[in-house]
Amino acid sequence: MRRKSYPFCFIVLVIFLNFSSRRVNGGGVFKVDSKFAGLGKSLSAFREHDSLRHLQLSAGVDLPIGGTGRPDAVGLYYTKIGIGTPSEDYYVQVDTGSDIMWVNCINCQQCPRTGYRGLELTQYNPKDSLTGKLVACDQEFCKEIMRGSSGCTANETCLYTEVYGDGSFSMGYFVEDFVQYDRVSGDLQTQSANGSVIFGCGAGPSADLSSSDDALDGVLGFGKANSSMISQLASSGRVKNMFAHCLDGVNGGGIFAIGHVVQPKVNMTALVPNQSHYNVNMTAIDVGHATLIIPREVFMLEDETGAIIDSGTTLAYLPEAIYQPLVLKILSWQPDLKLQTVHDDYTCFDYSESIDDGFPPVTFHFGNSLLLKVYPHDYLFPFEGLMCVGWQNSGVLSGDKKNITLLGDLVLSNKLVLYDLENQTIGWTDYNCSSSITLKDEITGSVHLVGAHSISSASNKSAQKAFIFVFLMALLHGLCSDL
Ligand SMILES: *[C@@H]1O[C@H](CO)[C@@H](O)[C@H](O)[C@H]1NC(C)=O
Ligand SMILES: *[C@@H]1O[C@H](CO)[C@@H](O)[C@H](O)[C@H]1NC(C)=O
Ligand SMILES: *[C@@H]1O[C@H](CO)[C@@H](O)[C@H](O)[C@H]1NC(C)=O
Ligand SMILES: *[C@@H]1O[C@H](CO)[C@@H](O)[C@H](O)[C@H]1NC(C)=O
Ligand SMILES: *[C@@H]1O[C@H](CO)[C@@H](O)[C@H](O)[C@H]1NC(C)=O
Ligand SMILES: *[C@@H]1O[C@H](CO)[C@@H](O)[C@H](O)[C@H]1NC(C)=O
Ligand SMILES: *[C@@H]1O[C@H](CO)[C@@H](O)[C@H](O)[C@H]1NC(C)=O
Ligand SMILES: *[C@@H]1O[C@H](CO)[C@@H](O)[C@H](O)[C@H]1NC(C)=O
Ligand SMILES: *[C@@H]1O[C@H](CO)[C@@H](O)[C@H](O)[C@H]1NC(C)=O
Ligand SMILES: *[C@@H]1O[C@H](CO)[C@@H](O)[C@H](O)[C@H]1NC(C)=O
Repeated sequence: MRRKSYPFCFIVLVIFLNFSSRRVNGGGVFKVDSKFAGLGKSLSAFREHDSLRHLQLSAGVDLPIGGTGRPDAVGLYYTKIGIGTPSEDYYVQVDTGSDIMWVNCINCQQCPRTGYRGLELTQYNPKDSLTGKLVACDQEFCKEIMRGSSGCTANETCLYTEVYGDGSFSMGYFVEDFVQYDRVSGDLQTQSANGSVIFGCGAGPSADLSSSDDALDGVLGFGKANSSMISQLASSGRVKNMFAHCLDGVNGGGIFAIGHVVQPKVNMTALVPNQSHYNVNMTAIDVGHATLIIPREVFMLEDETGAIIDSGTTLAYLPEAIYQPLVLKILSWQPDLKLQTVHDDYTCFDYSESIDDGFPPVTFHFGNSLLLKVYPHDYLFPFEGLMCVGWQNSGVLSGDKKNITLLGDLVLSNKLVLYDLENQTIGWTDYNCSSSITLKDEITGSVHLVGAHSISSASNKSAQKAFIFVFLMALLHGLCSDL
């Protein structure tokens, strides 16, 4: 619990206004950022025309992931991706809460050379790559990103600044180069493929990124905006703009794939339109077989932004009016517990019996009758010899974060979560994240299995000792003024 909470400052407007938060130690905030809404059209038209001729996608992309979301370890998930010619490997954090990909660049003097669990870090140099080139201000991508702001002309480089929820940030300029990835080519088989992608070249470290225990080469944003790598890849038309993850809360790693998932079958619910994150309508909550009595308005708070689904946040945050009755109801199953507050934040108790027998599952209801069932072993976690409640009260957060509903890995682990950006829907189902899923090849109609990975040893005891909540999550701009 080194990093406690919420420096929820994101999105600093320099030239590029963004809202994303890679790691957030505590609540979140959400509002529509209209700057990004509508960024799509000309961007994707441009990409289709210009930069994706080299793609060889069909069934999809298999992103090998490593890391863990467990609150009692360093919680982050990352993947390995090749960039440049010749290609070099980079480890980037996967973040459904932000919208661009970036890696640290050669001019970053203070960036660590060794990162999370001893990973060897690499700094990208566009000049070392035969195919690397700068993105100029008058390129369509940059014009779209900078829509509404002025001062960027002709042959200047296209700058960006991205500030995350934990106060870390990346600042630099956009470059375009070939990215190598694993294209699904058969059952549990991949072939290396490449595509030209525009991404950020980070020119300086943030205070946070220069500490090495959780440092990586960069971030791979899987947010909704069209500037994300998946949107760039998908606009080739050869892969669906859909992706899925199954984060293994038990063994670490899991499945992360881009493409049309046909197995398992997943019930979907509509994303709330015009939100910068993956927001859905929550309609009711059951504890065991009892439905919590919650005033209807509570689900309608925050201008109907709904509940945010964010695999990048470790825990789950609920408004006061949900948190209080929920935790009371759960704890009423064991009236004799002696509660204590640990590190000011966590409600904990001594309990040595089977938690799944002693506590009720919690079921969230969403639009289109989609259910999300969370088991006691998901929402209770062991810490310092006690069991602690993972639910967090967002009513105690300040400013715009107050009373947000943010559902992170606590509820999403061990589920296959499917994001369909074409139909603007999201869904999930309980799933074994050590097994495999099936993707459909859009061209041939054939289907292929994609299996689980865990690209680093999942249990580095030394790393696990650090009790750090690392959240990936997306936020929006404007928060800085709140701090
Ligand atoms: C992305 O592009 C598509 C197609 O041009 C568009 O429909 C969609 O609204 C865009 N999304 C965003 C977030 O701008
Ligand atoms: C385990 O983590 C520690 C600290 O994060 C690191 O120094 C060490 O190299 C890691 N060991 C392995 C085997 O990954
Ligand atoms: C950028 O444009 C200016 C004026 O148009 C020109 O003098 C300069 O050489 C250009 N720089 C590059 C790198 O093209
Ligand atoms: C991209 O893939 C093509 C076809 O497999 C290959 O010929 C080319 O060398 C690759 N380019 C890069 C930069 O890796
Ligand atoms: C999907 O929803 C239907 C009814 O709404 C239900 O019968 C079915 O079990 C659900 N499937 C999954 C995988 O949740
Ligand atoms: C969410 O709920 C509100 C209020 O019931 C409704 O107006 C809106 O259409 C719903 N949105 C979605 C995406 O279901
Ligand atoms: C979303 O935003 C666009 C543009 O700001 C607006 O035209 C549209 O009505 C909005 N849709 C909803 C459901 O609020
Ligand atoms: C948060 O929820 C509490 C309890 O329902 C309520 O009293 C308070 O006004 C809410 N605050 C905001 C900012 O919505
Ligand atoms: C997306 O929506 C279209 C039209 O409603 C539907 O035909 C298609 O099956 C949907 N795709 C998925 C993957 O649900
Ligand atoms: C999950 O799948 C893996 C690989 O297929 C299998 O070895 C394991 O037994 C499964 N776990 C459960 C709980 O079914």
